[in-house]
Amino acid sequence: MFLTLTPNPCLEKTFRVPNFATSGSFRIGADAIRENVGGKGINAARVAARFGMRSIALAPLGPNLREYLQKLASAEAFELYAIEVEALTRTCHNVVSDTTSTELLEAGYPLSVGEGTKLFEAWRAHLGACEMALIGGSYPPSDNGAWLQHASILCSMARAANKKLIYDGKGEAFRRAVFGAHSPWAIKPNVEEARELLRTPIETRDEERAAVRQLRHRGIELVLLSCGARGLWVGWENEIEWFAAPRVTTVSAVGSGDSLCGAFAAKYLETGDVWESVRWGVAAGSANAARLEAASVGPDEVAALVPQVRRELGEIRLMN
Ligand SMILES: Nc1ncnc2c1ncn2[C@@H]1O[C@H](COP(=O)(O)OP(=O)(O)OP(=O)(O)O)[C@@H](O)[C@H]1O
Ligand SMILES: [Mg+2]
Repeated sequence: MFLTLTPNPCLEKTFRVPNFATSGSFRIGADAIRENVGGKGINAARVAARFGMRSIALAPLGPNLREYLQKLASAEAFELYAIEVEALTRTCHNVVSDTTSTELLEAGYPLSVGEGTKLFEAWRAHLGACEMALIGGSYPPSDNGAWLQHASILCSMARAANKKLIYDGKGEAFRRAVFGAHSPWAIKPNVEEARELLRTPIETRDEERAAVRQLRHRGIELVLLSCGARGLWVGWENEIEWFAAPRVTTVSAVGSGDSLCGAFAAKYLETGDVWESVRWGVAAGSANAARLEAASVGPDEVAALVPQVRRELGEIRLMN
């Protein structure tokens, strides 16, 4: 079983608006609107479930959207486990036009201390039964920094339970967890998130590679540094390798990283082979970019792209 936790879930609304501009009024037909249960851990669970892996997604859900999100999830292959909270659940909008994609992301609404404890309890209750776990996305905002240590404790709990944990996060809670006493097994920052994590500029391929090396030296066993349409750096065991992404006609790349994580987890649990699973992860990210819906890719469309993922050993060795 693949277990995910999404501390800051959302109702994800995707609109296709061909002539979208930043001012004006746009009427959008129902066929150009997609609604999904969203948030990075939920997205990863959806993709892993499409790959046939039993997946449970834990998320705090507020009274405004709890029933609706559970209804949307009931049509899906993953299991959504609602941690019932009073804090409202956010809505995130993605407007896809012919040439641009514009995201309007509500930051989220603060959880109470008691609600944070409920997250710990749900995590502890489910960890024992999973083979791999993932924490996905940001934390809801908090005025007093109450959440900054929360993710570190979740990581410690996964370590104590001897579970492989992927953390696809951002912000200060992520940073503290990654560099805390019990760092996760794997992380999947994109370049911007890696900059924030290491507080260093990352502009060139050499700097990307150096960032992977630095994160490996900080104790992360598997570093997946994703670089959008270009591809993925992988730091694992004694190697740092580049996987070039298949070229696709991009519709919306929102959720490509989540698709990568979900497909990677499903394939890793099936094969135990990091390099093979990475190949599927990269292909899943690209398949996602070719679609309107975020993180809804399935095994057939991904399998079609796997042969186009190029592992570029020679080039990387030259860069040593
Ligand atoms: N436009 C694209 N064309 C082809 N492949 C893509 C494209 N965008 C992303 N990918 C693939 O998906 C992977 C993950 O993408 P990206 O780096 O954008 O993740 P991300 O920023 O974490 O996304 P998100 O957080 O929205 O899920 C990339 O490493 C690449 O393999
Ligand atoms: Mg991401």
